Amino acid sequence: MTLIERPNRAPLYDWDALVDEERAHRLIYTDPGIFQLEMANIFGGTWTYIGHESEIAKPNDFITRKLGLRPVIVVRDGDGKIRVLFNRCTHRGTTLCRLEKGSARHFQCPYHGWNFANTGQLRGVPWPDGYAGDMRDTKYNVAQVPRVESYRGFIFCTLNMDALPLVDHLGPITAPIDDWVNRNPGGKLEVCEANRIKYKGNWKLAYDNSCDGYHVIYSHRSLVEMEARLTPGQAKGMSYYKNSPDSLAMYMRYTGHGNHFKDKRPNIENRPGGLWALEPATPGQEHYEAQFKERYGDRALSLLDLAGSVPVNINVFPNFSLLGNHIQVFEPVSVGETNAVWYGTRIVDDGTIGADAVRDINALRMRTQEQFPNFGEVDDVANFEQIQRGLDCIEDEWVYMNRGAGIPGRVKTNPDGTIDAPSTDEAFMREHCKEWKRLLKATPNMQVKREV
Ligand code: FES
Ligand SMILES: [Fe+2]
Repeated sequence: MTLIERPNRAPLYDWDALVDEERAHRLIYTDPGIFQLEMANIFGGTWTYIGHESEIAKPNDFITRKLGLRPVIVVRDGDGKIRVLFNRCTHRGTTLCRLEKGSARHFQCPYHGWNFANTGQLRGVPWPDGYAGDMRDTKYNVAQVPRVESYRGFIFCTLNMDALPLVDHLGPITAPIDDWVNRNPGGKLEVCEANRIKYKGNWKLAYDNSCDGYHVIYSHRSLVEMEARLTPGQAKGMSYYKNSPDSLAMYMRYTGHGNHFKDKRPNIENRPGGLWALEPATPGQEHYEAQFKERYGDRALSLLDLAGSVPVNINVFPNFSLLGNHIQVFEPVSVGETNAVWYGTRIVDDGTIGADAVRDINALRMRTQEQFPNFGEVDDVANFEQIQRGLDCIEDEWVYMNRGAGIPGRVKTNPDGTIDAPSTDEAFMREHCKEWKRLLKATPNMQVKREV
């Protein structure tokens, strides 16, 4: 269907002046006009994460989310097909479904009672004899996102008809995603409830931080000190960043289309229990670990690794991160307000390790997943809020992202085009800012569809 509104038809901004190789202008974080273009051209103009298949496991299950600012219903219809419906009644536009999740074959509009199947088709209106025209006209069916694809259970969608197939768009970032999924029994995971954190700052401040190894030892100092106090003499994950992090085997890799990952796995001892050994202390953990070892004997250490947080941060532009055992999603609310949602994950019984072990690992996993959102993310969002304040200094226009640039041999381009840099460099940010700019300069072929 042809759209009348195309917000980025005219080149309103000088994008190359706003972002160059080493710096970004404060306006990209503060300007409501730029934010509106991002909501059209980036969120939904490129593949955007919208949910996990396990959240709508059965036919007719649904969740409600946002695609940029657009409210949507992510639903598995009666035939098992995953759809992303605009959560908007076609009559006068009211929000159709006001629940966070559930199961429904139909959605009835609360305003005047129009009734839609979960395929988006209008099934009935009250007192239809009051309409002269044919109410079976497809224009009355709910608008939906025309392209919805999953990769390893992660559902992405886009309105851009010219976007590459999802797997090609993801490209080399699929390798760490595969590792992240495959380490679990049967390569399966289910998404649990979330820690929901709101901050008063632009959404990009979170994405700019997603691969940042430069801030850790300063911003998370209280957490690092607490870990050192609770487990004296033991090196936990965050302690990588003490002393000289750039001399360690960990690294960051930019893989294209704004995607990157920071891989701390090369630092780990490759042995059963090697991952678990990095897990910082949480209340009650010692006692539970001792019980676990008694219960599972020789198998305990490798089973405990399934509760341990994977030391890799995998970021898919613009709104998706895998870190530890979490899925983190960035939800823009306004130019200066964002939700950072940390979904927990649990393993699934596939018959290989036994239902008891699955239950016990998930209990421990729940505790480990409480740790960072409560003790670490709060440091990060405090930074985001303070940056947003600092950017109100109108005459001091630039932020710099040039760490690691211009030093011969430091940032390396691999034969496949991916880019590697030490973990404290800002190469990832320079690269995703190029993708940001490319998307804002483009006029994407945005469409919606309606079921016929
Ligand atoms: S707005 Fe939905 S039925 Fe009127
Ligand atoms: Fe951080």
